Amino acid sequence: MSEHLTIAKENGILTLTFARPAKKNALTNAMYGAWADAMEAAATDPSVRVMLIAGKGDSFTSGNDIMDFAQFAAGAAFGEMQVSRVLKALAHAEKPIVAAVQGQAIGIGTTMLLHCDVVMVAEDAKLSTPFVNLALLPEAASSLLLPQAVGAKRAYAMFALGEALSGTQAEAFGLVTRAMPAAEVLPAAQAAAARLAALPAGALLHTKRLMRDAAAIGALMEKEGALFASQLQSAEAREAFSAFFEKRPPNFSAVA
Ligand code: COA
Repeated sequence: MSEHLTIAKENGILTLTFARPAKKNALTNAMYGAWADAMEAAATDPSVRVMLIAGKGDSFTSGNDIMDFAQFAAGAAFGEMQVSRVLKALAHAEKPIVAAVQGQAIGIGTTMLLHCDVVMVAEDAKLSTPFVNLALLPEAASSLLLPQAVGAKRAYAMFALGEALSGTQAEAFGLVTRAMPAAEVLPAAQAAAARLAALPAGALLHTKRLMRDAAAIGALMEKEGALFASQLQSAEAREAFSAFFEKRPPNFSAVA
């Protein structure tokens, strides 16, 4: 359980809402833990037919909590990071996942969308994966799935140069289902989830299975995760985290 993740189940739809708006819904280890618990339980709960992921306030999520990153970098074992359980649940999810995205969708806020089946997004949302700015690297199988979705050069610009896509651009690339005015996003996502909940679950499951190589995605996540764990403890990552909290640009040239 986490006070920052709201969980509601109604009419076959399990809605998970990131609820930490004062921190732009930055995701803590506790939030990941609650999210993983909910997804793992939903996988075998016949009363859940569809999952819907949303964010409270003006942002979907600003990604991993950087304070948590800093703490893990300072010594906590990566194996304790609940995000690994979330990634596994996303890779192997067989029920449809719908996302409602407004404002900032940073890091995993964007890479999780690669594992969602229907993504409704605000036209002015900002989707970004600035891993290298934090001296980190792509996760959630995004090193494969983001280039596939938007092309290798644009994916590199997002990973390395921190370039963002607007919701409108993301729709043009096929990264999301539909872009629309922000006020329409949640109702559109809820309507899509209701339509999916009424469809035959078996046919949906086979369609999703055929469209995704879950085993290959899971294997790539593990490879990325091992590199991510070692990079998280690097001097350049520590500099990036300190710079964020000191509200200054990082100085990587001073780091060996
Ligand atoms: N981790 C921890 N705290 C975060 C956070 C994150 N990922 N994102 C935002 N916050 C906190 C800020 O530190 C700030 O806290 P404070 O009020 O105690 O100072 C609060 O949330 C509001 O954020 P702020 O930066 O003041 O809002 P903004 O509108 O100027 O900018 C963002 C919003 C999301 C663009 C900016 O906060 C940001 O770039 N966050 C980091 C995103 C990131 O790199 N995520 C990791 C991806 S791997």
